[in-house]
Amino acid sequence: MNFLALETSCDETSAAVFTDEPRILSNVVASQNDLHARFGGVVPEIASRAHLRNILPVIDEALAKANVSLAGIGCVAVHNTPGLVGALLIGVSAAKALAGTLGVPLIAVNHVHSHIYACRLAAGRDIFPCVGLVVSGGHTSLFRCDSALSLTLLGGTRDDAAGEAFDKVAAILGLGFPGGPAVEREAAGGNPKAFAFPRAFQHDTRLEFSFSGLKTAVLYACHGQNVAKATPPPAGQTRQDLAASFQAAVVDVLVQKCKQALRQAGLSRLAVGGGVTANTVLRSRLQEMCDRERVELVIPPMSLCTDNAAMAALAVEKWRLNEFAPDDLDAEPNFQ
Ligand code: KG4
Ligand code: ZN
Repeated sequence: MNFLALETSCDETSAAVFTDEPRILSNVVASQNDLHARFGGVVPEIASRAHLRNILPVIDEALAKANVSLAGIGCVAVHNTPGLVGALLIGVSAAKALAGTLGVPLIAVNHVHSHIYACRLAAGRDIFPCVGLVVSGGHTSLFRCDSALSLTLLGGTRDDAAGEAFDKVAAILGLGFPGGPAVEREAAGGNPKAFAFPRAFQHDTRLEFSFSGLKTAVLYACHGQNVAKATPPPAGQTRQDLAASFQAAVVDVLVQKCKQALRQAGLSRLAVGGGVTANTVLRSRLQEMCDRERVELVIPPMSLCTDNAAMAALAVEKWRLNEFAPDDLDAEPNFQ
């Protein structure tokens, strides 16, 4: 049985074809980075319009790469929550139209839960129970995952997501968009101890995050208390030190909270997904912590960490339980 899945929650238009094993046959992603770069962040209206332009060509390409025709699709899956409502609507509308026309079932999948399922796909075997961390431009959430479909939220961010903080700090430092890779490159030449930036909740038993104070601390370190004067961003070694010190603060709290979640949940496997896992310092620090704690770490390859439709193979688990979406399925922007 072949599934066709769609992802349009933010600024990537993606379609994937996979089997009920699940085995991925294709995973096509059209990025909109170029469209949003000059605004320093994702502009929802532009994202929706780009999804509308991209969705049909992306579906065609996913089917062609999988060598499957529409007639060979037995089920349609879509991420309908959470995300930008206008962006989600494009995927949901296309999925409903396809499922209705083909006369096949429709399955609604939670995008954040799919980020954890990407770890299951990458491992090629059962990874549950585990602690799951989703760390992306929109989310910083820790879960207890008893199975692919039973996820309990242990804690999340009170304000900015970790990736959003990377993007905003990149803008403060004049490093462009998307900010994560640019900050990491800049940080490579810097001293992570040069600036003592705040690490919110680090010594707190609550599994919560806050990155907005850190972002403001970087802003003040750049421009002094009189931010309104808008001095040009620092350059050279100072900018490298700011990037490295900021990155160290984010990585410290992410690693610390994962360690606490593992100990509190009494689990010995950690699954991590989302775009920020591209960060090599985060990856190596997580690996060190897991080695010390005798915990297995599962991080998918980048193609499954950043937003994509293949991770919606979580739909296969719902299909096995006959958990189909209603005909009036809607986009739900807020986390369910
Ligand atoms: O998962 P993703 O592709 O989209 C969302 O669902 O948000 O994640 C994108 C986020 C962006 O905020 C980007 O700056 C961040 O992941 N990111 C990174 C790195 N590469 C991407 N953050 C830190 N270091 C990186 N190397
Ligand atoms: Zn995502």
